Amino acid sequence: MKARAVRMHSQGAPEVLVLEEIEIAAPGAGQAQIRQTAVGLNFLDVYQRSGSYPIPMPATAGNEAAGVVEAVGPDVTNVKVGDRVVYQGGEMGAYADRRNVPAWRLVRIPDGVSEEAAAAVLLKGMTVEYLLERCVSLKSGDFALMYAAAGGVGLIAGQWAKAMGVKLIGVAGGADKCKLAREAGYHAVIDRNSEDIVARVKEITGGKGVPVAFDSVGKTTFDATIACLAPRGYFVSFGASSGKPPAVEAGLLQSKGSLYFTRPTLATYCAAPEDYTYSAKRAMEMLGSGAVKATIGRRYPLGEAAQAHRDLEAGKTSGSTILVP
Ligand SMILES: NC(=O)c1ccc[n+]([C@@H]2O[C@H](COP(=O)([O-])OP(=O)(O)OC[C@H]3O[C@@H](n4cnc5c(N)ncnc54)[C@H](OP(=O)(O)O)[C@@H]3O)[C@@H](O)[C@H]2O)c1
Repeated sequence: MKARAVRMHSQGAPEVLVLEEIEIAAPGAGQAQIRQTAVGLNFLDVYQRSGSYPIPMPATAGNEAAGVVEAVGPDVTNVKVGDRVVYQGGEMGAYADRRNVPAWRLVRIPDGVSEEAAAAVLLKGMTVEYLLERCVSLKSGDFALMYAAAGGVGLIAGQWAKAMGVKLIGVAGGADKCKLAREAGYHAVIDRNSEDIVARVKEITGGKGVPVAFDSVGKTTFDATIACLAPRGYFVSFGASSGKPPAVEAGLLQSKGSLYFTRPTLATYCAAPEDYTYSAKRAMEMLGSGAVKATIGRRYPLGEAAQAHRDLEAGKTSGSTILVP
């Protein structure tokens, strides 16, 4: 069977993403074939396209999508034809209108939740789940800091933290993004274009600083993040939207007050199928219950994936971005 897929024959600028027709085999043992209706865009896709993460070429782009099961291979028992499902991770190849996926990665979409919303929230929601609930143990009343507060991960984090009672301080670029972050439930929001991040964090926390800082920006925010941490605080470096952060000196962690530094990934926190299923179900529960709402900033046709990448990389998007096959 034929499928339309966004392929890369080399890593590089957004133009390497090209829409092509490819051949799809019948699903093999343990696989299900999905007719995909919504593809989630993630910053990870940019790292894989640009070459920040080396990957073998050629490849089909993408790591997350939702749709309907159209066929199942032998030994598949967790889903059936007609089920509405969502998945993330594993082998790349989500930028397509149809593909085979290991069935264990598929999670049923709750009734009343659209496939678009599921694709907008799964990977980012699983990221928020492991960051807030497993990587560090935050409890009600704790302060924490989150950059890109109006981004895909950021808007979900604001809502999730509010549900936990965590006082999440957001950083976003510009008045419109700050408004979105405030509406998502952030305790306070700092405009990085017009305010001093460190001074504002100190002011909001009564001079103490935050016990946890989630930094996905990397190169340009490293120094501010270190300065925002309270003694014995956790620096959670989980992305590099502005480029890689500098190498971390043990002596710096010492002199800034016995700090901890970790560089976690969703892939490690969901490597075991039971952890993946737990985290995915948690993200879908939060969406199904209404505690987290999907904010889809923009939709692009599958063939305009290159433009979607340009906009995400330039910080022009807010909330989640969807490619429509
Ligand atoms: N480690 C993990 O497990 C994991 C999993 C998922 C995502 N992530 C990371 O989480 C981050 C957010 O991912 P996302 O897909 O939701 O993207 P996103 O937050 O929707 O987009 C990135 C945002 O980063 C901010 N930013 C600040 N400086 C930037 C710069 N120099 N260049 C580009 N953007 C800049 C921009 O927001 P402002 O203008 O408001 O600052 C921009 O909108 C990414 O770094 C991603 O790699 C990590």
